[in-house]
Amino acid sequence: MQSVKGYRLMDAFLSDSQFSKIRDLIYDASGIHFTSSNRTILESRLKERLRKSGIPTIDEYTKVIMSDEGEMKTLLDTVTTNLTRFFRNTAHFQTFERHVIPELVAYKKGRGETHLKLWSAGCSTGEEPYSLAMVLKDLLPPGFTFDITASDLSLKSLMTAKEGFYADNRMNGVPEKYLNRYFERKPGGYQVVEDIKKLIKFDYHNLKLDSGLRGLDIVFCRNVIIYFDETAQTNVIRKFYNAMNNHSYLFIGHSESLFGMDTKFEFFKTEWAIVYRKFIK
Ligand SMILES: C[S@@+](CC[C@H](N)C(=O)[O-])C[C@H]1O[C@@H](n2cnc3c(N)ncnc32)[C@H](O)[C@@H]1O
Repeated sequence: MQSVKGYRLMDAFLSDSQFSKIRDLIYDASGIHFTSSNRTILESRLKERLRKSGIPTIDEYTKVIMSDEGEMKTLLDTVTTNLTRFFRNTAHFQTFERHVIPELVAYKKGRGETHLKLWSAGCSTGEEPYSLAMVLKDLLPPGFTFDITASDLSLKSLMTAKEGFYADNRMNGVPEKYLNRYFERKPGGYQVVEDIKKLIKFDYHNLKLDSGLRGLDIVFCRNVIIYFDETAQTNVIRKFYNAMNNHSYLFIGHSESLFGMDTKFEFFKTEWAIVYRKFIK
């Protein structure tokens, strides 16, 4: 037996029917899919949330999340996994720098265009969009501009992202040249400089819904759809397709795949990694 705020609960914490109910509510709200194999993660996060909210029983808590949108948002924030790091997956950044950017720049030049529009969907605490911004600032030819929208449904993570301060132990992987130019040393860590911050718009967005973004040239959505089931994955990938330009690129996590999915994205293998393209002539 365990206890949450003095209430004694069964060892499993959730009965099977309680688990199914909460799992379905989380899935409907976000696409995040808990299965019996990651049930214990959900149970431990729920325990934490019950303790903090002061709501004594799981049945009462279930009623609250059904009627209170704010508490549902807090729960989603509690159950998400926000692990990330600067320049995560070197092969992706090599593909981005050596293939995607040169190819897109040449394509845009041919059309007399000079702007790139990016989206880091599921940006967590911001390391991914900041890494992209630093690369683009260095790599784009004079006269080219870009903007990055970075979104997540974790408000806690977005707060860190917007602040742009990272403790020393989170700076692994940042190349020296960027560290010197785009960060300011502060006690205990590093602060992203305003010149980089102003290139990114951080926003709360749940990928279950349409973002309203259109005309995107590059979308990064890495290590996010791994938490969704097939239906939710297909829905979000379809939304990306509709939001992207006719000549554009999608990056997903290296352990994620669109293989077998009903999608119009083309699979494209570069020397470094696989990327997906929407190429319509
Ligand atoms: C593991 S992190 C990945 C961060 C970064 N993209 C990377 O690869 O390092 C996954 C992020 O996806 C977010 N996420 C999960 N489901 C989401 C949804 N339905 N809408 C928006 N963000 C979601 C989580 O809050 C979390 O911050």
